[in-house]
Amino acid sequence: MKSINIGLTENQLGNVIELLNRDLADVYLLLVKTRKYHWDVVGPQFRTMHELWQEQYEMLALDIDNIAERIRALGGYPLGTAEGFLKYASIKEHPNDLPTVNEMVSRLCSNYEQIIRNLRGHIAQCNDDYGDEGTADFLTGLMQQYEEAAWMLRSFTEGESLSGGSRSQQAVDNAPATV
Ligand SMILES: [Fe+2]
Repeated sequence: MKSINIGLTENQLGNVIELLNRDLADVYLLLVKTRKYHWDVVGPQFRTMHELWQEQYEMLALDIDNIAERIRALGGYPLGTAEGFLKYASIKEHPNDLPTVNEMVSRLCSNYEQIIRNLRGHIAQCNDDYGDEGTADFLTGLMQQYEEAAWMLRSFTEGESLSGGSRSQQAVDNAPATV
């Protein structure tokens, strides 16, 4: 097979491929978790969260394909087994439970934040250690998507944690919680 001659050493490519496989594992697991909550959610927020999670897992499915194909473009092979995803992911599953909608949102928000922190580190490594601006740019795009996804989830729980009609007044005036 013709070797890849794009200005990166085999070592640099190998390191970048490993970072991408770690991100692939996390995004795959997050898709599984998001889809499970899309199925399980109950309560007055059912329709909102059922639909939001469908949008999010569809986004994650596209991302998974793009990450895997970038790995191939760099000459590597993506993880492709459930065992591999579990081994390399930094986020955890919560088997055999049925959490409340707030707990579901809180867990997924934390997972997005973990993945964003990982991506931030991986972007710096691609730029500073491996000279791969292409992958750094690609991961930056993913990070921006997940910052938006985390914001949507965070907004849901912030709304729940503030009582009734005082929310907008508190937010605008930044008033103390007690007078
Ligand atoms: Fe569905």
